[in-house]
Amino acid sequence: MKTVVFGGCGSERFAKLLAKRIKASYAPVRTSYFPDGELLLRLPADVRGKHAVLVYSFQPYPGEVLLEALIAIGAAKQQGAKKVTLVAPYLGFMRQDKQFHAGEAVSNSIVARLLSSADMLVTMDPHLHRIKSLNRIFSTKTTTLTANQTLADHLRRNHSDKMVVGPDEESSQWAASVAKLAGLPSIVLKKKRYTATKVRIIVKSKIPLKGKHVVIVDDIISTGHTMIEPIKQLKKLGVKSITCIGVHGVFAGNALQDLKKLAMVETTNTIHNPVARIDVTKAFAETLR
Ligand code: R5P
Repeated sequence: MKTVVFGGCGSERFAKLLAKRIKASYAPVRTSYFPDGELLLRLPADVRGKHAVLVYSFQPYPGEVLLEALIAIGAAKQQGAKKVTLVAPYLGFMRQDKQFHAGEAVSNSIVARLLSSADMLVTMDPHLHRIKSLNRIFSTKTTTLTANQTLADHLRRNHSDKMVVGPDEESSQWAASVAKLAGLPSIVLKKKRYTATKVRIIVKSKIPLKGKHVVIVDDIISTGHTMIEPIKQLKKLGVKSITCIGVHGVFAGNALQDLKKLAMVETTNTIHNPVARIDVTKAFAETLR
């Protein structure tokens, strides 16, 4: 079956790289707006009898991306695609995975149900902190990839003299795993979150950190506070240099500028941003071949 890869809003680079890796044709999804503001979407390549791969990373405007992805999935089906796969390098709406306050929507399962209109979903390191698998909320087939091996290779090549730090217990599935794969020492800190922008990180002073070079590894860097707080404390404890590595560089507001003042910052290219230096398209290509 022939495959056509479509680059959705904000994900064109990733989609192009992916298409090249799997030797498929590439086309950007075309969108415009009717005078009343409604979205008009066009798939500029024939999908009849083919495998349509739609690439949508849920940034920088998650709500718009969601709507565009849903309409694109529907369009590919209407136009006779034999199979429709949604590649979501960064799958948004997964963090609201419980009702934290009365009346709140549990968005992850609502969005999962909508996106299950695709025949398959492929994503990387989704925010699965309270549920174990995407199969719990998606009714379509899902493939969950991890950037861990790619990050470990990156650490081995570029940060082989450093200690890996996980900023909170949840980050252990990235920080500790990546450190183990790379053969580097690691520690995981404790975090208490008060609000979306206020967190407190606890570093046990017993850990000898003076003079060390450190890499903080986490899945998502959003407001950057989960990185900024440990940076401040690690510096007080005499750490010599700090690099922050995130799988998904969301960088809400001024997060990237603020972080860059304190440390070196690197992310994978699941979300297009100025520090997205670590290419993870190979892992996606392997599942689509
Ligand atoms: C939290 O559960 C995640 O793993 C990240 O630590 C969090 O999303 C980072 O958010 P922020 O950059 O806003 O502190």
